Amino acid sequence: MNQQKKQTQPLRVACLGAGYFAQFHYDAWRRTGRVVLVGACDQDLEKAKATGLAAFEDLAVMLKMSCPDLLDIITPPPTHLSAIKAGISQGVRAIICQKPFCTSLEEADEATRLAEKAGVVLVIHENFRFQPWYRTFKHALDSGVLGDVLQLTFRLRTGDGQGPRAYLDRQPYFQDMPQLLIHETGVHWVDTFRYLLGEPEAVYADLRRLNPVIKGEDAGYFVFDYPGGVRALFDGNRLLDHAAENCRTTLGDASLEGTAGSITLSGDGSVTLRPFGNVTETVLLQPQSWKGFGGDCVKNLITHVVDGVLDGKPLENEARDYLKVIALEKMIYEADRQGRKIREVAYA
Ligand SMILES: NC(=O)c1ccc[n+]([C@@H]2O[C@H](COP(=O)([O-])OP(=O)(O)OC[C@H]3O[C@@H](n4cnc5c(N)ncnc54)[C@H](O)[C@@H]3O)[C@@H](O)[C@H]2O)c1
Repeated sequence: MNQQKKQTQPLRVACLGAGYFAQFHYDAWRRTGRVVLVGACDQDLEKAKATGLAAFEDLAVMLKMSCPDLLDIITPPPTHLSAIKAGISQGVRAIICQKPFCTSLEEADEATRLAEKAGVVLVIHENFRFQPWYRTFKHALDSGVLGDVLQLTFRLRTGDGQGPRAYLDRQPYFQDMPQLLIHETGVHWVDTFRYLLGEPEAVYADLRRLNPVIKGEDAGYFVFDYPGGVRALFDGNRLLDHAAENCRTTLGDASLEGTAGSITLSGDGSVTLRPFGNVTETVLLQPQSWKGFGGDCVKNLITHVVDGVLDGKPLENEARDYLKVIALEKMIYEADRQGRKIREVAYA
């Protein structure tokens, strides 16, 4: 009876974090149906107030006062485990947690187990697979129009990594991260490659730091091997750019090549199909001015979770599944450290 009542009422959503990326979450929540925003919390109260919502600087107080059904965690990894514990103990139904999920595989595993034990839905905010162009890739792949797919490639060319002021205006913490390119950004393609091609059977990586003002790596490759010689290549370089009016729309370009045809993602977010042996391209996804971030992928993910919680639809990106992304990321750094391909792919 109580459950029935909850399904028809809007989901009460409270958010932890009001920093740079949170702006895309608040905007997306405001454009999402069947939810009501009940609070914003940031240790910097002024930032929480700037959201225009009931503002808090202490998570426990926000959870008690605003009684959310869903907690959206938009703060950095060191805050994740304690925030998930707080949400669970306060009785939320669902939690969305930004990537990178917790500070280690062990912590992420603990958070996953706690949520599962409490029956709380825990979804990781891994938004890139929700970008419309990758949904178009998946649709083309599943339709068979590409024939046997042999190669998936993403070239990250954000163009924001040059010189002493690299990243300072948008995400200054990038300069101090001991692991940058893969841990902070490349991880989106670890997940997107899994979304498109499944789990790899071997991992190779070769990473480097080009800009001496930063601590971590800002360029490099990782290669995933799949059965039958199929490969996925991530080729990242933050100092170089790509042809786009806004290099942050897609962050680079991509292709998915098969024996019957190839599809290409361009920097404007358009996707084209070229049949094998042909020079004429068909547009599968038109360039358009998307709202929000990266083809409105934050809203797409949020809507997916709301539908999952309210309607019981199957969820992507649940924490248990996301542990595989963390395990693969660890293997990428290990492959780079050892300078060899890792064939012993072991998931959590
Ligand atoms: N999925 C994506 O596309 C994407 C893009 C950018 C950033 N991110 C991730 O989002 C997270 C936040 O990134 P950001 O760029 O917004 O960082 P930020 O530093 O701009 O903002 C973080 C905010 O969290 C607040 N905060 C930190 N600890 C807190 C605590 N204990 N209690 C309350 N507030 C606290 C800070 O005051 C700050 O306002 C990171 O994990 C980052 O990797 C994801």
